[in-house]
Amino acid sequence: MVPAMAGTTAKLVLPDGKETQLPVIVGSEDEHAVDITKLRADTGYITLDSGFMNTGSTTSAITYLDGEQGILRYRGYPIEELAEHSDFVEVSYLLINGKLPTKEERQKFSTDLTRHSLIHEDMHNFFTGFPPTSHPMAVLSAMVTSLSAYYPDSLDRNSPADLHITRILSKVRTIAAFSYKKSIGQPLMYPKNSLRYCANFLHMMFAVPSEDYEVSPIIEKALNQLLILHADHEQNCSTSTVRMVGSSGANLYASIAAGILALWGPLHGGANQAVIEMLEDVQREGGDGKKFINDVKNKKDNKRLMGFGHRVYKNFDPRAKILKNMCDEVLQHLGINDPLLDIAKAMEEIALKDDYFISKKLYPNVDFYSGIIYRALGIPTNMFTVMFALGRLPGWIAHWKEMDEDPGAKIGRPRQIYTGEQLRKYVPIDQRTK
Ligand code: ACO
Repeated sequence: MVPAMAGTTAKLVLPDGKETQLPVIVGSEDEHAVDITKLRADTGYITLDSGFMNTGSTTSAITYLDGEQGILRYRGYPIEELAEHSDFVEVSYLLINGKLPTKEERQKFSTDLTRHSLIHEDMHNFFTGFPPTSHPMAVLSAMVTSLSAYYPDSLDRNSPADLHITRILSKVRTIAAFSYKKSIGQPLMYPKNSLRYCANFLHMMFAVPSEDYEVSPIIEKALNQLLILHADHEQNCSTSTVRMVGSSGANLYASIAAGILALWGPLHGGANQAVIEMLEDVQREGGDGKKFINDVKNKKDNKRLMGFGHRVYKNFDPRAKILKNMCDEVLQHLGINDPLLDIAKAMEEIALKDDYFISKKLYPNVDFYSGIIYRALGIPTNMFTVMFALGRLPGWIAHWKEMDEDPGAKIGRPRQIYTGEQLRKYVPIDQRTK
């Protein structure tokens, strides 16, 4: 917990004339907050902030972001530098442990991840139990919950968290690839210990037993960068869910499974799939996106320009900037000409000049271009949100660990303002009217 500025308080005057002094908290990047922890006890009032537009649910030392300036840093390191110089395994270590690993630490972390990549053979049967039409997010969340059944030591809060962290980081990758193989009716490909984290994932996704498969270094690098860009984003819907569920004392696997489910929605991690579906609709209608954008502006059928807008970024999303460049590079390297990319660029150009989007501060977010890159890498649309989950996993783990290690952490339990009926008398069924 960051200490309050010595002696600094904010004064709140309530309608009944009661006054109270609230401590002011300052973060390491000079972010200011009014600490209302004792407000209800002192005054009887609570605060109301639907959608948490303005409420800090915790202090955290993991990720700093400034939506106005378009800044995103993991443990102090700019996202641009990490995307350029690091890889996903190193960034995962950084987020979870708070520092970049030494050579030895890095080697041990990689070896541990490699050793834990298999899932229990009995879990393979689960995959055959799901219908072939299952969305891979449904399969992924169910399988991650099931991990707690296979590792019952996770239910003991005193069992070593590091072991569960390594297990889940490694096994989610295997489960994600298996859920894809199952959905297309191909044999499950076991992980290969000689391959690095991302290359191993690509092997499990795209290799078949009957042929040799070589991982393209360009695809491996692009995947590393995509996962790094998604690895954490402080208190978003899914991460707050992980913390909320974990705050009850639920084990790591259960808490992460809850995060996966929160990510699924189209306003959050499901947006990358929704972007591609939107671009395909525009393509099918033979348009350039102008009609779609007009419909969005007129709020026809509550349409939104998917991949645009962000609760926090009101200037630009630094991840979208990196992805736009990456998109061009990857498609060029792979010799792919994707008409959806042309439509996306045309729609972006129209939107960025249009007063509707300018006045509402709506800019492309991380999902506007990520789907096009995933398509180029051969990843099917219904796996996009699974890819997001794979990327966000170290962030969720880091937040769960930070909360788990905080001796002052409390169970998450918001309050509400009740707006229903006041006390009334029970009515026997034969006296009720419609
Ligand atoms: N297209 C059109 N209009 C939009 C969009 C959009 N993508 N996003 C917001 N608006 C409009 C809303 O209609 C609203 O207009 P109004 O004031 O006339 O009612 C105004 O902008 C504010 O929108 P809110 O939904 O209140 O903003 P909020 O901060 O709650 O929403 C969100 C952020 C959910 C990301 C929103 O911008 C959105 O729905 N975007 C599309 C989905 C998307 O791309 N999600 C991915 C987010 S990034 C991530 O999760 C990794």
